[in-house]
Amino acid sequence: MEWIWMIRDEQIIAIKQYVKQLFELDVTGHDFYHMKRVANTAKSIAESENANIFLCEAAAWLHDVGDHKLFQQPKRVMKEMNLFLKTISISDDEVEKINAIIQNISFSKGNIPETLEGKIVQDADRLDAIGAVGIARTFAYGGANGQLIYSEVYQDTSIQHFYDKLLRLKDKMNTERAKQLATERHQFMEQFLEQFHKEW
Ligand code: NI
Repeated sequence: MEWIWMIRDEQIIAIKQYVKQLFELDVTGHDFYHMKRVANTAKSIAESENANIFLCEAAAWLHDVGDHKLFQQPKRVMKEMNLFLKTISISDDEVEKINAIIQNISFSKGNIPETLEGKIVQDADRLDAIGAVGIARTFAYGGANGQLIYSEVYQDTSIQHFYDKLLRLKDKMNTERAKQLATERHQFMEQFLEQFHKEW
């Protein structure tokens, strides 16, 4: 069994480097460190849920590859990713599973993935959208997309995004571990919003 884990480690290192060159210059909250946090969280949830750790970690690193918000040619990017995965000896079956997870996360964010691994990566991505990091990413994304912080006139603001989406994520977590992790982050967002409105 030992050699399998050596190969696994090398595959994860190669995936990390691949992801780094793709997302290094992102300023919308989808940078390399978003992928790193999601990968670490997915790995830790996978351990407590007895899921396939390698699939969760690999798919989490790659979960924003081909996202239509971030890439002009999503299909080409996905195709290149699949070719890359084959060059590092990831089996066709695993490439397919990784693709299924990514598609569930990136293209239909409202859907509940069918597999446990998909559910875990979705949880990990959602956890990174809430809490202190989630707050920072919301304003980075808003700024990069020409959105106001807040307005007394317009509805479409970064602050509104908390009410429309972020405050609802806590109740949408799939796994028990993610529900636990979401509680503290959710409370912090509520505290932040209260303070924000007080200062405003
Ligand atoms: Ni993401």
